[in-house]
Amino acid sequence: MTLFDKIQATANYIKSRIDNNPKAAIILGSGLGGLIDIIQDATEIPYSEIPNFPVSTVKGHSGKLVFGKINGCEVMLMAGRFHYYEGYNMQEVTFPVRVMKALGVEILFLSNAAGGTNSSFKIGDLMIINDHINTFPEHPLRGHNDERLGTRFPDMSEAYDHDLIKLAKQICAEKGIDVKTGVYCGLQGPTFETPAEYRWIHTMGCDAVGMSTVPEVIVARHAGLRVFAISVITDIGISDVPVKVSHEEVLEAANEAAPKMAGLVAALVTAACS
Ligand code: HPA
Repeated sequence: MTLFDKIQATANYIKSRIDNNPKAAIILGSGLGGLIDIIQDATEIPYSEIPNFPVSTVKGHSGKLVFGKINGCEVMLMAGRFHYYEGYNMQEVTFPVRVMKALGVEILFLSNAAGGTNSSFKIGDLMIINDHINTFPEHPLRGHNDERLGTRFPDMSEAYDHDLIKLAKQICAEKGIDVKTGVYCGLQGPTFETPAEYRWIHTMGCDAVGMSTVPEVIVARHAGLRVFAISVITDIGISDVPVKVSHEEVLEAANEAAPKMAGLVAALVTAACS
């Protein structure tokens, strides 16, 4: 079966299970599972029931799609994403984004936990991503290009939608949320970075680093979706003395920032939808 046929089959299965037409999709990052509560009238489909969806490798984190509404706007949400470091290939990592497009989604909102490489950032800060640098060893668009899915050589001059960034900044100002803006570096992981790598990431022009988002954004742009992405800064890599980073601390910091993030995402989705 071609990728195109697989996408159609999966989208048709999902349509048979739900009765909403999501205009926006949200991908939740590590520790941000609490954002699921912003969805009203939720219908859930576990990934394990969805044909062609990758099978989750992380025990207890099987993941699900959630369909519902945010202030009247029909949305879908991915609770649990697929990371390259788990062993999936890039087509698998980005498959859900293809399915979103096939379901009629027009705007994709992504969140993640990231390490700060900008010394003016502190743990718990939110950073709107305005650009990225892709260092993943495999490109999600490598190989045969099916023109029905997008063009061979996609433009990436405005991967992160400027109007959505402006809107998000306005909402943060109104809500009194201190928000940073910066460039995200996508690395494969699963190791956190060495002190020299954090310095390198900073020197090449990035303010934050993480192990996700970039592949999904590339495929979303290939598919013609508008994209908004935001990081929670869960640790600071730039420091005179090496600072240990653990997954537990990352999750804790993300969890703490989740209510702030939920308020922003809900307001932004509502405004973007209308
Ligand atoms: N590096 C890479 N990924 C991360 C980090 C980090 O410091 N923090 C959270 N995800």
